[in-house]
Amino acid sequence: MKVLYVDQTGQLGGGELSLLDVIKNSTEDSEIALFSDGPFRQALEAIPVPVHLLSLGRVSEIRREARLLSVLRGGPALLKLRSQLAQLAARFDVLYANSQKAFLVSALARRRDQILVWHLRDMLTADHFSPFLRRVAVFAGNLSATAVIANSEATRESFIQAGGNPTKAVVVYNGIDPAPFDGVQESEVEAVRKALGLQDKYVVGCFGRITSWKAQHVVIESLMALPDTHAIIVGEALFGETAYSEKLQALVHSLGIQDRVHFLGFRRDIPLLMKLADVVIHSSTAPEPFGRVLVEAMLAGTPVIATRAGGALEIIGDGETGLLVTPGSVQELSAAVTKLKNDPEFACRLALAGRQRATAVFSVNAMIESIHSVLSTAHA
Ligand code: UDP
Ligand code: GLC
Repeated sequence: MKVLYVDQTGQLGGGELSLLDVIKNSTEDSEIALFSDGPFRQALEAIPVPVHLLSLGRVSEIRREARLLSVLRGGPALLKLRSQLAQLAARFDVLYANSQKAFLVSALARRRDQILVWHLRDMLTADHFSPFLRRVAVFAGNLSATAVIANSEATRESFIQAGGNPTKAVVVYNGIDPAPFDGVQESEVEAVRKALGLQDKYVVGCFGRITSWKAQHVVIESLMALPDTHAIIVGEALFGETAYSEKLQALVHSLGIQDRVHFLGFRRDIPLLMKLADVVIHSSTAPEPFGRVLVEAMLAGTPVIATRAGGALEIIGDGETGLLVTPGSVQELSAAVTKLKNDPEFACRLALAGRQRATAVFSVNAMIESIHSVLSTAHA
């Protein structure tokens, strides 16, 4: 089966890191079309997989909060992109769209006999998309997608709530390879701790792109009730949210805790940094669609505290494989950290159970088999 994957971004977001795992491990004959360049292209070429860069033009101005007018303004560029993709896609059996924009353009570009898979990695809710874009996406999904693969039950449910056809939507959890976590040496962790001046410090780790709904400010604020605790904030504003990133810096200054908050930017040594942290905190205030960082922290053997919403509810059992707190509650978050800090045995039990669950449920093999079965059924 010849599969053309389609993605709108060249950045390494969670959706793109997951797609790398899919493409690396799949047995399909794969190529990919990207609407913009970046480190994702380099990672794909290293697999290697052929990458086709199409030009996004003014389509890039159609943002998640878009209304009809901005879509109309982007219209001519959209038509150009559609025809570039249609030309490229002609020799493939399957178009596999990994993001919303990629799906909408693929729906316009696809031949009628071509399989179109939409890997839905976002919640189709008001927190994330304008009502107009939700309506357009669900209309196109019902009309054109052969199958919709949702990255969690929460995401699938958001598709159905927005009017999506339930019979088209299946859940396939992201699988994450434990090998890079198992390969980290204790000496490497100690060296980085030392380099960051964190020997003998209690460290909370916050991993993910810097964006207001991932709510890194809640973690920073929680430090006020956690004396002697340091935070490493790992990630970057990948999709233009630099204003929020600057706000975080200002917050740290206004609280006077510059010496306890370490902004590390975008890093590629996540397994090591997750092992370095005593606790990993996931603080999203809008429901997280899935949350790769939760599974990664579990694989690192580090206890996790996450907000009680979205994909986190499917990944973490509260008090068994992690702790769940109310989204946005600084007080609950600092209480949860204090509990783990004061009871290392309990923290260790959570971490061990978390690791077992992550390896059992979120394996790359299970993900690949499920996707293969969706493609084979569609192709039959
Ligand atoms: N990540 C990374 N470097 C960073 C911060 C994050 O490689 O500096 C990775 C992280 O390990 C995870 C992904 O980015 O695999 C984020 O995925 P997640 O599903 O948690 O959130 P998303 O950003 O896709 O909403
Ligand atoms: C998206 C979601 C994230 C999910 C990732 C991989 O980027 O925001 O929650 O883990 O896709 O499916």
